Amino acid sequence: MLRLKNKVALITGGTTGIGFSTAQAFIAAGAKVAITGQNPERLKAAVDALGAGTIGIQADQSNIGDLDVLANQIAENFGKLDVLFVNAGIVKTAALTEITPEHVNEHLSVNFTGVLFTIQRLLPLLNNPSSIILTSTAFTEMGMPGMSVYSASKAATRSLARTLSAELLPRGIRVNCVSPGPVETPIFGKLGLAPEILQAMAGQIVGKVPMARLGKPEEIARAVLFLASEDSSYVTGQDFVIDGGMAAL
Ligand SMILES: NC(=O)c1ccc[n+]([C@@H]2O[C@H](COP(=O)([O-])OP(=O)(O)OC[C@H]3O[C@@H](n4cnc5c(N)ncnc54)[C@H](OP(=O)(O)O)[C@@H]3O)[C@@H](O)[C@H]2O)c1
Repeated sequence: MLRLKNKVALITGGTTGIGFSTAQAFIAAGAKVAITGQNPERLKAAVDALGAGTIGIQADQSNIGDLDVLANQIAENFGKLDVLFVNAGIVKTAALTEITPEHVNEHLSVNFTGVLFTIQRLLPLLNNPSSIILTSTAFTEMGMPGMSVYSASKAATRSLARTLSAELLPRGIRVNCVSPGPVETPIFGKLGLAPEILQAMAGQIVGKVPMARLGKPEEIARAVLFLASEDSSYVTGQDFVIDGGMAAL
């Protein structure tokens, strides 16, 4: 059975990693999909790989003007939306003594403020019923050195999902979160760290995962597909932690 047959979905940060895998899962489930990203080459490569019918829109999640353009393009191309996966996010590590106002602003403007305004700008296009899914992190459940600003920005996102699930229920919109543990995606390569440091960091993180491995993007995509589809019709305000047991065991 095609779980998203005749549905329209927008995935922010759909060019690589979790967002890209989710776009593949949504398309396989019968949805028409639009994705966003900042980098034009990665956007084109993703749209080409996802195939005909997929739309790529270059939009910086931290730029409200871009979000207005995004909403207009979705309205022009699809009219309405059934699924909004607000997934675009960044992570940079910094110990307490290294944190600057710029580091804080950068994380909040993409991972929290940008998430909030994406939902606000797309709200008029969301059908009744429809489903919003946000991406938080399992790191909000544990103390991970160097991640204070990133984890706090994602804790704000998780809180937003809870508040909006109550606020948007009368509009027929369910709002849930996914909170991945460490997943093998290009995000770690974007940290700007040397390969040997990255490898050591990955080893340390894997050491905290009871399943003793990194997650795969498609393992998160399957959870997002569940929350996007009618399979989760009685679920709202929840946080789906997918982390190989890291936060719970
Ligand atoms: N991988 C993990 O271990 C992990 C764990 C927990 C949570 N997460 C969260 O999962 C989400 C997806 O991350 P990922 O691991 O799949 O990383 P990824 O492969 O780097 O994907 C991030 C996506 O977000 C886009 N993006 C980043 N900043 C953006 C901005 N300002 N405006 C628009 N798009 C932007 C990227 O596009 P560009 O490349 O063009 O910028 C890319 O499409 C993030 O919110 C991340 O925090 C990841």
